[in-house]
Amino acid sequence: MYLLIYLLHMCSLFQIHVVENKKTNNVYVKEKKNKAWNEIANGVTIPKGTEVSIAIYATHHDEKNFPNPNIFDPDRFLPENADKIQPYTFLPFTKGPRDCIELITNVRTNFQETSDKGYLNARSTYLTIFMNRAYSSLKRSELYFSHTHEYKIYKKCIDILKKFPLPIIEAAKTARKKKNIFDGENESSRKVVDFFLDSDISENEFRDNIDMFIVAGHDTPGSGIAFTLYELAQNSVVQNKLLDESISLLGKDPDAVVTLQDIQNMTYLDCVLKETLRKYPSVPSYERTLEEDITIDGITIPRGTEVAISAYAIHHDEDYFPKPDVYDPDRFLLENSDKIQPYSYIPFSKGPRDCIGKTIAMLVMKSIITKILRNFELLPANTTHTPELTCEFVLKSANGLPVKILRRSL
Ligand code: HEM
Repeated sequence: MYLLIYLLHMCSLFQIHVVENKKTNNVYVKEKKNKAWNEIANGVTIPKGTEVSIAIYATHHDEKNFPNPNIFDPDRFLPENADKIQPYTFLPFTKGPRDCIELITNVRTNFQETSDKGYLNARSTYLTIFMNRAYSSLKRSELYFSHTHEYKIYKKCIDILKKFPLPIIEAAKTARKKKNIFDGENESSRKVVDFFLDSDISENEFRDNIDMFIVAGHDTPGSGIAFTLYELAQNSVVQNKLLDESISLLGKDPDAVVTLQDIQNMTYLDCVLKETLRKYPSVPSYERTLEEDITIDGITIPRGTEVAISAYAIHHDEDYFPKPDVYDPDRFLLENSDKIQPYSYIPFSKGPRDCIGKTIAMLVMKSIITKILRNFELLPANTTHTPELTCEFVLKSANGLPVKILRRSL
């Protein structure tokens, strides 16, 4: 499904050349910049607007691209063999403007190990004030806000936050000079920082973008993981089912090496995380500016209005998700997929500005939950505890998410 979303973006942003693999009858595509739409492949015209499937499996198993494709041979990827791999034939992370993103920073923060919570506290305070402001028509006024007590704290936080990405930027620049992150030739080794370093943006814009990745990319999966562990501790049936899936895929060795394919095969874990993001969407609401007037229930909202879209409210609407307060991953089983209405499940938003980190976020959350679950049993720490949900841009629990953990042997 994620691939399909990527595809829709790629098709809309890129012109594509569709190629048929005669052996497998699979259709796959190459991006073709600066070519006319309706590219003809093997005499077949596929019209603009068609949803096409990019068969990465077929591309990777095409003899022309990878001789003896069924042989597992890591030597194909040795630097001395790099010229044998044709452009656009190795696509595990797709290609194009919405491919899988990577932000290599090489910077250790030591947040967990040291008592220096300066950055974390500043971020938390900043986001709390930001959210208070967003929902107060008075505080949205710059004039009023600049005379409040909060304003001074807000400014102080911003100073701390602005300094944080600087070592990351410096590390990226130094690494690039040493050519140990980016070799300048291999497109696929480019990281997010490389894109920014290559683009024509100011130092400030660069810093803001890196900051955005840190905020958008760390707290969000962190929130998803925390709420999942909490719910698993309350729901032993779900936890056991998840463990069964994990054992069936990885066996009983707690240190089993988990491959990307294993993670993708964890279909029940997928349902569990989707249900967490339904009940506790990491980004509970986001805003959009209306490009045209819209009328809802007889009320017309004029073009130009900023509207908040509450994923939290939609995910808790009985009409879309019956018994919304019940944690039930089965809602997302394949056989129930037709019960989920379009646009009713929007943890990553939808449309051209949806989350570009959704695939990597799911992989990160899946691998961390798997590792924890295979080593620890999760139990409720306090049976009377109810999370007090709060929003610091990202959904959190103000009174924590206590979980008791017991080491387990599989
Ligand atoms: C559970 C994890 C995540 C959730 C629920 C989530 C959710 C969202 C949502 C709802 C938006 C749209 C926000 C808006 O329009 O105001 C968004 C945007 C974004 N997300 Fe995520 N996100 C997650 C993880 C990540 C990760 C891991 C990264 C980066 C590695 C990331 C990077 C971004 C970026 C850069 C944007 C802005 C995209 C744009 O404006 O075009 N997100 N995310």
